[in-house]
Amino acid sequence: MSDAARLLDRKVLFFGGKGGVGKTTSASATALAASRAGKRVLLVSTDPAHNTSDILGRPVGPEIVEVQPNLHALEIDAAQESARYVGEVKTRIKALFGHSILKEANRQIDLAASMPAAEEVALFDRIGSLISGEDQRFDLLVFDTAPTGHTLRLIRMPELMEAWIRALSRSRRAMLGVDQDDRNDPIMTSLAERLERLREFRARLISPRVTAFVLVLIAERLPIEETARALEQLEEAGVRVGALVVNRVLPESSPDPFLIARQAQEREYLIEIDRRFAAVPRLRVPQLPRDVQGLETLDTIAAALFRD
Ligand SMILES: Nc1ncnc2c1ncn2[C@@H]1O[C@H](COP(=O)(O)OP(=O)(O)O)[C@@H](O)[C@H]1O
Ligand SMILES: [Mg+2]
Repeated sequence: MSDAARLLDRKVLFFGGKGGVGKTTSASATALAASRAGKRVLLVSTDPAHNTSDILGRPVGPEIVEVQPNLHALEIDAAQESARYVGEVKTRIKALFGHSILKEANRQIDLAASMPAAEEVALFDRIGSLISGEDQRFDLLVFDTAPTGHTLRLIRMPELMEAWIRALSRSRRAMLGVDQDDRNDPIMTSLAERLERLREFRARLISPRVTAFVLVLIAERLPIEETARALEQLEEAGVRVGALVVNRVLPESSPDPFLIARQAQEREYLIEIDRRFAAVPRLRVPQLPRDVQGLETLDTIAAALFRD
């Protein structure tokens, strides 16, 4: 099986890279190819600057829509997820404590929800439930992510949240004292459940059979350096990089001096990419004469990605 085809055997694919290199293009083309191969695919954009609608050439929004048979798409709206998440937390608190402390608790929650990290946590929560198999309709999830830094934070989040929940559990246990059984305490139970979910999520994230990360770049200096850093950081986080997509490779042989110069530079960078990233399969996608829009162009991109 080719390296590219092996990607489609995973359950979860993340596409990352610098802004504008072709993350949405590659993620959409891969999702389309998998759906044509009979997989039931959900393409999920987590980039606050969504552009799946533009690339697919049809509207996508915060609710899952069918693009064509076997292919669905979703653009997660972080603000909306945050509002939903806060609503859920309030319901849970109400169930746990009743009305006595509800007003004060809600005030605290609203305060916490207005902090900048709240949307990220909510986004993470939604991604987590998707990856944990919340929606049984799909065989493959393809995540079109935000530029690298944002996504790396997301990947590290289970670890951070685990530490945080452990700390909360410790202080709750201290409050309960030695006489009381943890299992009878709703807060301890809820924290334990959350920890279990996070563990499962992290296990799926770092399992190379389940998840692969695909880094997209173009043959230029800055994307190469960013790819090298991302590779290192993903490895540190225990996440396997399944492939690199080298996008927008110029077509061979042009009589134009400007293009010849561009091509000469590109050739050097392509050699550098092959040398520095030899351990990771590299898939080349040609520069098309026009922008990517609609399924037909995506089929062309997919044909290049999965040519063998
Ligand atoms: N192989 C390609 N040939 C021609 N245009 C491309 C190619 N890949 C991407 N593009 C164009 O480049 C722009 C950025 O691509 P996109 O996939 O949206 O990048 P990202 O999601 O990483 O920001 C889009 O206008 C898209 O049409
Ligand atoms: Mg994009």
